[in-house]
Amino acid sequence: MDDENKDESVTPALSRRLRAAIAAGSGWIGFDRFMHMALYEPGLGYYSNAQPKIGRMPAGKARARASEGPDSDFVTAPEMSALFGQCLARQIAEALHVSGTDTVYEFGAGNGTLARDILTAIGPHIRRYCIVDVSASLRARQAQALQAFGAQVQWLEALPDTLEGVLLGNEVLDAMPVKLLARHDGQWQERGVAWETDATEASDTADAGSFIWQDRPGKLRPPIDIPNDGDYLTELHPQAEAFVRTTSERLARGAALWIDYGFGEREYYHPERSMGTLVCHHRHQVDSDPLALVGQKDITSHVNFTGVAVAAQETGLEVLGYTSQGRFLINCGIEDLLQAASLPQRSMAAKLLHEHEMGELFKVMMLGRGPFWEPLGFTRGDRTHTL
Ligand SMILES: C[S@@+](CC[C@H](N)C(=O)[O-])C[C@H]1O[C@@H](n2cnc3c(N)ncnc32)[C@H](O)[C@@H]1O
Repeated sequence: MDDENKDESVTPALSRRLRAAIAAGSGWIGFDRFMHMALYEPGLGYYSNAQPKIGRMPAGKARARASEGPDSDFVTAPEMSALFGQCLARQIAEALHVSGTDTVYEFGAGNGTLARDILTAIGPHIRRYCIVDVSASLRARQAQALQAFGAQVQWLEALPDTLEGVLLGNEVLDAMPVKLLARHDGQWQERGVAWETDATEASDTADAGSFIWQDRPGKLRPPIDIPNDGDYLTELHPQAEAFVRTTSERLARGAALWIDYGFGEREYYHPERSMGTLVCHHRHQVDSDPLALVGQKDITSHVNFTGVAVAAQETGLEVLGYTSQGRFLINCGIEDLLQAASLPQRSMAAKLLHEHEMGELFKVMMLGRGPFWEPLGFTRGDRTHTL
């Protein structure tokens, strides 16, 4: 990894903005505000700055395809295997056909790899492939990757009032800011962030100090009761749920496919998951400290798919299916596609399927407006009843 490729000046500038926000908030901001600024503060946040993010594993680890060099932080399913996009394309083609629509809206399209694979597989079924992405630097990468498709691909500045087509997002909900809740001695408190100045004589600059955790009493509680009174840390997902509510409300005709790591709420708020799911990704390493190297690490938490389903149902959408990524890909025919694949392609695709890799932790949820129908990807192993 070449450290010089990372702009180390990002952190001090972002750190000063965060400290100003903390000062304006009487010395404390909720973690959702901190995470929002760390990821999306214009020009400085992780997804707003120009540093590479999504790509291959560091050299030495086997891989079949990658969009960029090793100075990325994490890899996603579309970057691992084109078979992911080819399977999704089958599901999307079916949904476009059933709903009589011809537009795909992809949210958070990363490097544009999934869009490219879907358009390559089913381009003629799609009149418009619209991308909505908050990251200007990723939009620029997408434009480069998708040049060959010309005006078929469009970038939307704002979400249209009415959406007709298939909405799609891979690993987007997990990138939305979460609130943190901590239980100590049986009492729930909201966990936020404060700034602690380094008062030693050696540190005479205004920047000397560090972000620290601070819990404050509040009314927020987990959506379900978590038995026993032991210490417990967890997340709430108001932004992801608001996003699903807004996109669902506007979906007049068609379906939405959300793919991400996560569980239903009983599994999410299981008494034994007492450390929460919040993690950071930096140069293909996982850590649990979002208060360090702010702006240079991805911060993410698992998705509560029960919350996603409820938010969509509140707007009149049906859950058409919910299952593991492995099961979804098998239902969409990945096994046929694998037969024609090379050995390296097969070994990368296997990671998408295997239970101990991405096959079980990642889930696919499909939502739709109108009468219930059974989509291809959920014909076997549907788990909607577990939500
Ligand atoms: C973890 S990356 C996943 C990228 C890509 N889907 C993939 O699988 O490689 C998260 C993406 O979501 C985008 N994003 C985050 N919040 C968003 C929002 N509210 N609307 C649209 N895009 C968003 C980020 O800019 C980024 O492109």
